[in-house]
Amino acid sequence: MNMRDSEIIAGILKDARHKIVDDDKDADVILFNTCSVRQHAEDRVISEMGRFAGRKRKNPDLVLGIVGCMAERHGERLLKKYPYLDIVVGPNNIYDLPELIKKIKSPEKALAVGNVRRPEKKIKNRFRAGKFSALVNIMFGCDNYCSYCIVPYVRGREISRPKKDIIDEIKDLADKGVKEITLLGQNVNSYGKGLTNRITFPGLLEGINDIKGIERIRFMTSHAKDAEKGLFRAMRDLDKVCEHLHLPLQSASDRILDLMNRKYTYDDYLRKIELLREMVPEVGVTTDLVVGFPSEKERDFAATQKAVEEIAYNAAFVFKYSPRPPAVSASLVDDVPEEVKKERHNALLVAQKEISHAKNKALIGTEQEILVEGLSRKSDKNLTGRTRGNTSCVFPGGKKLIGQLVRVRVVGATTFTLRGIAVTKGY
Ligand code: 5AD
Ligand code: SF4
Repeated sequence: MNMRDSEIIAGILKDARHKIVDDDKDADVILFNTCSVRQHAEDRVISEMGRFAGRKRKNPDLVLGIVGCMAERHGERLLKKYPYLDIVVGPNNIYDLPELIKKIKSPEKALAVGNVRRPEKKIKNRFRAGKFSALVNIMFGCDNYCSYCIVPYVRGREISRPKKDIIDEIKDLADKGVKEITLLGQNVNSYGKGLTNRITFPGLLEGINDIKGIERIRFMTSHAKDAEKGLFRAMRDLDKVCEHLHLPLQSASDRILDLMNRKYTYDDYLRKIELLREMVPEVGVTTDLVVGFPSEKERDFAATQKAVEEIAYNAAFVFKYSPRPPAVSASLVDDVPEEVKKERHNALLVAQKEISHAKNKALIGTEQEILVEGLSRKSDKNLTGRTRGNTSCVFPGGKKLIGQLVRVRVVGATTFTLRGIAVTKGY
């Protein structure tokens, strides 16, 4: 979501005749688009920004800004605490950036926060980070109020974009050569709520599946209380919808899930995964897990450990709980010691690594379709891309295949990557 916001911001600034430079040394304006989801993300921004404070002393005309969730969360406090900071703009106020940057020239500081999403504006000089893969917002904000989560407070209430706007944007991307799109929303399964035309997320997928030129459709994130058969059917029946579901579990202890306000039990979740795997056997499943939520006992954690083994995800992101006031759980005592959080974090990572490796090894001998993203970082004789199930794959090949769909036979596997050989005729 933040990566897409950064692209939109770049487009807004280009429309206002700013130029995006490759090297920050050449920049007159430096904006940090920030995340608030964990304290660690915020700490990193502050230390990164510190690097530029010195430069600002030498060049007082340099404009420094914090944009995004952290701006919304702290607002004016940031301007007070960091005197070298000029701009603080929340994610729903990014269209004001050009005006605010102009204003800085008179030595006022600029603040624009308020978490009500304003209507989108047409951007003429759009910016996209990738040529073949693009991110597309289908909704903004979140209404779920998971007790640990800051998102509803900084991104506001959930709003779906009209289907026509989404389809037009994707058609335009397809015309420009984009082959893969990732639909973005905090909870894509509630897409359509509040729109005058009745439409559901699977209905939207159907519409997008018909767009010529688009070869792959991905989406994130799904909420386990809302993901259901209609979605799995779309994954099974729509040829372009990739067989990958990211379905955050967070915890497998029903007591903790209740405290988290997730509105499902582990059993509900497990049944959904079983149904999905029945309907889409080759599906890749990934998840998010939080360890050390307030009052998490050994037996709660043991339930999560057991779930990781039982579900056997392709990959899992594991996070140590961090209180995010004003999110509700911040009023609970953060009573799991940091050491214990670290141990639990580590135990899940170790277990998951082994499972990911086994899952990848099981793909050896299969043929996979890879969308080639670029040269491998390690060797320019190798290409890198992803399977439809969202696993990275590296295989020998030349630059001319970048942006192409290539069929690859898997010949090796590590924890995070497959190794393959192209089998597509003519290569
Ligand atoms: N502490 C730790 N992890 C969190 N996440 C969200 N809020 C917190 C928090 N306060 C994790 C969840 C979510 C992912 C994006 O970040 O697992 O799915
Ligand atoms: Fe946060 Fe829950 Fe909304 Fe995800 S669904 S953004 S975790 S409140």
